[in-house]
Amino acid sequence: MNIRTALRRAILGAATVVFALAATSCDEKLSDLTGPTPNLQPTFTSIQQEIFNTTDASGRLACTNCHSNVGRNPSGGMNLLGAVSYANLVGVASTGKPGAVRVIPGDPDNSYIIHKLQGSSDIAGVRMPRGNGPFLTDGQILVIKRWIANGAPNN
Ligand code: HEC
Repeated sequence: MNIRTALRRAILGAATVVFALAATSCDEKLSDLTGPTPNLQPTFTSIQQEIFNTTDASGRLACTNCHSNVGRNPSGGMNLLGAVSYANLVGVASTGKPGAVRVIPGDPDNSYIIHKLQGSSDIAGVRMPRGNGPFLTDGQILVIKRWIANGAPNN
């Protein structure tokens, strides 16, 4: 092999190692951040499964304990059971805060669900999940924000 081929191979090899390392540390970071729900991804299906339906490893109550129409009226007039949750969230006005919209596709910072999960100072009522936590971690909230930033698709 001549010197140019050897050099090209060495550079390609080094680049592969760098890319592999970068990919690994990214994956590690996401699951570190979403700790109690390591499988959480920024898709609606994943958020439904890991956040709305599930009491997670930190002891956080499933949202559907209260946001359900089974044997009760959904808290806040918002039903988060799988079949209807998308239609209860995206582009839907808040019942608690006039002018607020629960999920605004492409605009996580102004989506009311994010304010309620972060306990922002502008919310009506209390921080979610109701009852002094454990609240969602920053990483879990970040994944929900990313889904909204991606246009809040029904995926
Ligand atoms: C223990 C019961 C309970 C749990 C668990 C709970 N909520 Fe709520 N939620 C309520 C009640 C009651 C209200 C209405 C009063 C208020 O806004 O504080 C509400 C209101 C809301 C609202 C505002 C709705 C509107 O139209 O103004 C959002 C958004 C919300 N909850 C999201 C969630 C999410 C997401 C979870 C899970 C991470 C969750 N909640 C878990 C009881 C609960």
